Amino acid sequence: MSLSEVNRRRTFAVISHPDAGKTTLTEKLLLFSGAIHIAGAVKGRKSKRFATSDWMEIEKQRGISVASSVMQFEYGDAVVNLLDTPGHQDFSEDTYRVLTAVDAAVMVIDGANGVEAQTLKLLEVCRRQRTPIITFINKLDRDVRPPLELLSEVEDHLGVAAIPFSWPIGTGKDFRGVYDLQRSQIRAFRAGEAVRPDDSVTLQGLDDPRAVEQFGETWLRAKDEIELVAGATPTLDRELFLAGKQSPVLFGSAINNFGIREILDALVDLAPPPKVREAVQRPVDPAEARFTGMVFKVQANMDQQHRDRVAFVRVCSGKFDRGMALTVTRTGKKIKTSNVVSFLSQRREITEEAYPGDIIGIPNHGTLCLGDTLTEGEMLEFSGLPFFSPEIFQTVEALDPMRAKQLSEALRHLSEEGAIQVFRPMRGGPTLLGAVGALQFEVVSHRLAGEYRVEVRFSPSRYRLSRWVSSTDATAMKRFIEFNAGRMAYDAAEQMTLLAAHPSEIAALKETYPAIVFSEMRELS
Ligand code: G4P
Repeated sequence: MSLSEVNRRRTFAVISHPDAGKTTLTEKLLLFSGAIHIAGAVKGRKSKRFATSDWMEIEKQRGISVASSVMQFEYGDAVVNLLDTPGHQDFSEDTYRVLTAVDAAVMVIDGANGVEAQTLKLLEVCRRQRTPIITFINKLDRDVRPPLELLSEVEDHLGVAAIPFSWPIGTGKDFRGVYDLQRSQIRAFRAGEAVRPDDSVTLQGLDDPRAVEQFGETWLRAKDEIELVAGATPTLDRELFLAGKQSPVLFGSAINNFGIREILDALVDLAPPPKVREAVQRPVDPAEARFTGMVFKVQANMDQQHRDRVAFVRVCSGKFDRGMALTVTRTGKKIKTSNVVSFLSQRREITEEAYPGDIIGIPNHGTLCLGDTLTEGEMLEFSGLPFFSPEIFQTVEALDPMRAKQLSEALRHLSEEGAIQVFRPMRGGPTLLGAVGALQFEVVSHRLAGEYRVEVRFSPSRYRLSRWVSSTDATAMKRFIEFNAGRMAYDAAEQMTLLAAHPSEIAALKETYPAIVFSEMRELS
């Protein structure tokens, strides 16, 4: 296994609150790397994909991005894998799982709105996984909040030390550019999408007399702030950055192509190559000769014409060669890999080889589930793929009782994809569906009708919460289940789950049954 192939990989995701500019930034990153040549291509790709897939009508109608995808491109010597995440919060579970497959994240913050709710939730996941984060404060061409205030908000809310790499010279109508604190250079701003990546004017140092000539008062005000900031903030400590404790902060305007190259440079210079990943049995080093990989996402009907189901696999170690036989360790089954796809700059292509950090797509008909581990034969299971306890519950029934069997089969598929969580009450009765966001029900209903020909009726459930329960004390567990049988259910993986209508019920049970562990999150292991 060539170590240099591992070391030149950078695998990351862009995360943000909806509307902060994630889609725009993604497109500009591709544009700057040369992977695409026309602005607007990413949106164009999206609408094309909508048209090929019926259920995505929903996202077209609502103008949100439900589907995630992967884009690979080269930047300098680096091979960059950019994993797209759904912007809408109702699909945040999907985003959380994508985050388990990356080595770094770029967090986009709308300079006018500061840190928003969705960013906080996503950051919590990054923190748990100690994912290093590069912060991009966007929309400086608009009236944004004072930069110092934004920095302290990042620090207070996100619990990371913010290290400014650049500093804005004016904002809104007065936005003139940024001072690059790393290179001691001024980069002048010019509005417009036509600006090429390398034609920005640069001035050297804080005392370049041309700065006052060009930017006047705005520069003088910025200079005071820059001197203050430069004196007050430490330089970036790479170890602290890699541990997710410090975040470099860049200011810019994605729509105007401003600040994009700096993000790419920071990714290549600072973000880590693939690192050791934990499996239940042992840690797995990316430089190991043998292939291992983890399924972090399963998506059906990416191409409606072929009705395929694609498992997105992150390569964790070794080298993937087309045609190699891989073992699904959950079942022990071998799979063929002759038509595995890669995601080179938005095109799905048959891949010949892939290295740690890369994402490959394996078409299959149900052999691969979320969280599966693939190896050349060793019985390994990667841990850490999260499932969150749902916040909305509804019972589901087929309108035509003769279709009940198809419904349960379809629900099994959809839960294997992570589209919805399925609970089977221990004492019988209608199946319960659990979702983190209401829109998941709409997508599921649409897909059940379109893909499985099952029309369904959802009914509200009295349950509002669930907790996975476990205990090291088998007797206590048995007693707990017996006494609470009326509100126990099995999830799709046959894990015991407690259903509750109110948080106070769970609080009371915790007191009564101290030997039972109630978990809001289940990690596949
Ligand atoms: P998202 O994926 O995070 O949801 O955000 P997206 O990129 O779709 O951007 C949300 C809106 O913010 C878009 O405007 C986009 O053009 C705008 N935007 C992104 N970056 C900048 C920036 O640097 N400056 C300014 N002023 N606006 C920016 P929209 O009107 O919702 O969509 P569109 O009609 O422009 O496509």
